[in-house]
Amino acid sequence: MKPGKPNSAHLVDVEKPAAADVSGGRGVLVEVFRVGACGTDREINNAEYGTAPDGEDFLILGHENLGRVVEVGENVTEFAPGNYVVATVRRPCGSSVYDKIGEQHFTTDTEYFERGISRLHGYMAEYYVENAEFLVKVPNALAEVGVLLEPLSIIEKGLKQASDIQERMKVWRPKTAAVLGVGNVGLLAVMALRMRGYAVHGFGREPRDGYLNAELCEAIGATYDSTAEISVEQSTEKYGQYDLIFECTGFSPIIFDAMQSLNENGILLLASVTGGDRKTDQVPSDKINQMFVLGNRAMVGTVNAGREHFEMGVKDLALCEAMHPGWLGRMMTHKIDGLENFARAFDILSNAGKYKAIKTFIEVKRPGRESPV
Ligand code: BGC
Repeated sequence: MKPGKPNSAHLVDVEKPAAADVSGGRGVLVEVFRVGACGTDREINNAEYGTAPDGEDFLILGHENLGRVVEVGENVTEFAPGNYVVATVRRPCGSSVYDKIGEQHFTTDTEYFERGISRLHGYMAEYYVENAEFLVKVPNALAEVGVLLEPLSIIEKGLKQASDIQERMKVWRPKTAAVLGVGNVGLLAVMALRMRGYAVHGFGREPRDGYLNAELCEAIGATYDSTAEISVEQSTEKYGQYDLIFECTGFSPIIFDAMQSLNENGILLLASVTGGDRKTDQVPSDKINQMFVLGNRAMVGTVNAGREHFEMGVKDLALCEAMHPGWLGRMMTHKIDGLENFARAFDILSNAGKYKAIKTFIEVKRPGRESPV
């Protein structure tokens, strides 16, 4: 697509890359199996943001990815042809100290480099090449659901930040969590929290009956309530105040409701990239401020993810498949066959309610061979 030009997604012929394109013998050529499509892709295609690589006038989209290794450079020992891999998204091309220490997901640069989003081509392609540093191995048994790993990595980073921050108390034994918004990302948060043993309460706008997302919450041992019937704050009368709240709705005013629903010492994680200019003045600021001060509550944003968060995600996917076989597969509601049908992905993303879509993804090419490891 052409950044800055709405609805400009189109197909282009590009040269097939080679492992040797990456210096130091650390290149890995990957054949793309599936690419997820999400709100970020929709917003880039709407020209809300997105930047082409320097000197080019188009950006190859796609950051939620899963592929199979075809060729490795001479200094790659950790991958072999046939392995399934997911590539991380942000690259350390900036000048902040976090870019220099390999923690570019914490960059303080305002111009960052993300494949498929900002200044670097993405994975909606038949092949891509990447330095082995930025690839994470996915076991063959998870190939069918592996494209969920990138969105899950954002959740994992949030949960890692929560546990790091909560070390301030020496002892933190969280029991209950609320997840606000049970779309694709919210459901992955419900799953990751259930895998950690939390009592999880999911919230969405839709009525419960006949709503697949609500059914998936309940199928994994969480509850589901519609905020049309009960606000998050009112729900604390039923479930008690929450030790952890994960906000994944994209509707920013709900954070004030969430701030009033946290337990003492509780933590609120914010994951929605709200690009709009919504404002709200219905905020009981004295009450919220006092609750945060007197209750040592905390709130933190979470974006992008590093290798360790992808690796945490692989473990949660595996545990979830073992405990609830087929649950992750049920999230993958809309498969699009072939890159040439990419326009359908944008149609589904723009009308997710009508299509009842949870995860929409493009199957670029189903790999034929079996993996050696
Ligand atoms: C991606 C992140 C990225 C963020 C902001 C999200 O959709 O999953 O990796 O950092 O968008 O660009």
